[in-house]
Amino acid sequence: MTTDIFRRLIMQGIPSALPHPRPFDNSINHAPRRKDILTKDEKKLAVRNALRYFPGEFHKVLAIEFAEELKDYGRIYMYRFRPEYEIKARPIDDYPYRSRNAAAIMMMISNNLDNAVAQHPHELITYGGNGAVFQNWAQYLLTMKYLSEMTDEQTLVMYSGHPLGLFPSHKDAPRVVVSNGIMVPNYSSRDDLERFNALGVTQYGQMTAGSYMYIGPQGIVHGTTITILNAVRKTSGREGARGGKLFVSSGLGGMSGAQPKAASIAGVISVIAEVNYKALKTRYEQGWIDEVTENAGDLVRRVRIAKEKKETVSIAFHGNIVEVWETFADEDIFIDIGSDQTSLHNPWAGGYYPAGLSFEEANTMMAADPDLFRKHVKKSLVRQVDAINRHTARGTYFFDYGNAFLLEASRAGADILNPDGEFRYPSYVQDIMGPVCFDYGFGPFRWVCCSNDPSDLEKTDSIAIKVMERLLKKSPARIKEQMTDNIHWIREAGRNRLVVGSQARILYTDAEGRIAIASAFNKAVRDGIIKAPVVIGRDHHDVSGTDSPFRETSNIYDGSKFTADMAVQNVIGDSFRGATWVSLHNGGGVGWGEVINGGFGMVLDGSPATGRKLKMMLHWDVNNGIARRSWARNEGAMFTLKREMERTPGMKVTLPNLVDDNLINDILK
Ligand SMILES: NC(=O)c1ccc[n+]([C@@H]2O[C@H](COP(=O)([O-])OP(=O)(O)OC[C@H]3O[C@@H](n4cnc5c(N)ncnc54)[C@H](O)[C@@H]3O)[C@@H](O)[C@H]2O)c1
Repeated sequence: MTTDIFRRLIMQGIPSALPHPRPFDNSINHAPRRKDILTKDEKKLAVRNALRYFPGEFHKVLAIEFAEELKDYGRIYMYRFRPEYEIKARPIDDYPYRSRNAAAIMMMISNNLDNAVAQHPHELITYGGNGAVFQNWAQYLLTMKYLSEMTDEQTLVMYSGHPLGLFPSHKDAPRVVVSNGIMVPNYSSRDDLERFNALGVTQYGQMTAGSYMYIGPQGIVHGTTITILNAVRKTSGREGARGGKLFVSSGLGGMSGAQPKAASIAGVISVIAEVNYKALKTRYEQGWIDEVTENAGDLVRRVRIAKEKKETVSIAFHGNIVEVWETFADEDIFIDIGSDQTSLHNPWAGGYYPAGLSFEEANTMMAADPDLFRKHVKKSLVRQVDAINRHTARGTYFFDYGNAFLLEASRAGADILNPDGEFRYPSYVQDIMGPVCFDYGFGPFRWVCCSNDPSDLEKTDSIAIKVMERLLKKSPARIKEQMTDNIHWIREAGRNRLVVGSQARILYTDAEGRIAIASAFNKAVRDGIIKAPVVIGRDHHDVSGTDSPFRETSNIYDGSKFTADMAVQNVIGDSFRGATWVSLHNGGGVGWGEVINGGFGMVLDGSPATGRKLKMMLHWDVNNGIARRSWARNEGAMFTLKREMERTPGMKVTLPNLVDDNLINDILK
């Protein structure tokens, strides 16, 4: 298809003639059938809601079709309207536009829906089982049309995938403001999500799915490498960090698929179980897994050899993770570090496959008999925790990987609580990400080259290395190790062939690093060293972006971890300091109602105005969280904040006075 036809199709939006129905494509990974939750009247409402995107002459045909989709899949995806052209990140000038910033957003949306990137592309799900960009194809078509015609004096408003429309604004305002799954607080249970999503009035945006900031599994490889590296350091001290250590976990999906690659970069043996062969095959074909087995006996033999030879090897086990934990306990295989990355934020609808059922049996049962399926999930979690407990009694370091494993296991009645009611095991944020990274402002900063040209990405990598090396020289001792790890990461990033989809890079950096790197990119765009603008952004899973008591804010101990002021303030603050788009989400990672998170995207176009905005916005975007973490008395954050205030005129933050605990203990005996 020529670029001209592609542009015309984008600008047309919803076609004026009914397109032919599209055959269901079985070669693609599809979302599981969703729970049949609506009453008869609500089903009518869902079809009525869906039809409002189309002119009356389509209604007769579409009403039947949409009612069938609702019956067969539990949702109305409007499959017929999926475009004929290939959806993928293209150079921004291939998109039709009046605002180049809007074209960059089109590129980011396209990447999130690319067949090679997205988990269930035809259901508009990017990752995490239910992380949606849009609820249906009509929303996609309309949004792209709006973006193609908007100017730099309009703002597009997105309500959970639905483009409410273009509103007049001004050049410095965000071009797009996104909210996903924001509910009146009492209507945020899991079944509420199923119901309102089936009605077509809300969606689960995950973190970077509904905010157009997903950059493939690379986005998570860096964070996972940091986590595994520091977990190994925790168990064995620096000198023993490499060689023959065993890491066991589950999941080779959107984010979890990063585990074998990250484990290899960290120099350990990894065994990752995955029940879905399609997911496993994708990672194997990408070269992110070295070996595959589906026989537990073979797995045991292979791991013994790898340990003996101190190999660095990643092994995928095609089967249930419960089998791995149990077999390794029976066979006395010592696991150094263990975790779990099944999608337990979504336990009843395909996020967790219980032991004892085949993959197909589970898929059928979760829709046909949800109550029985729930029982299987709970039983399996109890079994899994029993096996994990046998390992940790022998010295395994187990941590929750932010997938609500501890939470769901406790709800299932597993033996996962200490006598004081706290979880037996830490979350990775509590032990590693929080105190090592977030409290110092380090988080998953990222960028995407709008030229879509790998040579531009190489140039940005070299610029970032130079900036980081310069900053390392004057870094305080306590962040030097991280800086060195991150410089190592970016040096190796090109060689590790991490790009899937758009020409993107992730790099954990602090406020100073993010500002310095973004400024250097903006200058390189201005000077024509980089051919087209660069988009900067981050995962919501960051210093300030997310309030999530069992994950990002699990190392906040002043009682405020159940509040969400930080994430909401962050998005508001980013929006008036120059972000090109902002988003605020309910749900992401750990489940609907369990987290509020937000993020931004900013297009670096080389202009002086952008140079000014990036400094202001990135400074707030990181320091908001540092200030909150400092107020919660987190030592690393208090240190970082004081350093920041020394160099930033105009910043005056309330600092906590520390109290002697003995004084309180004496009074409140
Ligand atoms: N990687 C990270 O840094 C990170 C950070 C925070 C949270 N998480 C969480 O990790 C979870 C996984 O994310 P994802 O994007 O990979 O989701 P995903 O749904 O794409 O992948 C999960 C995979 O687990 C497999 N699986 C489910 N039950 C299994 C079982 N019992 N045994 C073996 N395999 C099983 C599924 O088939 C699926 O492929 C999510 O809850 C996410 O929020 C990850």
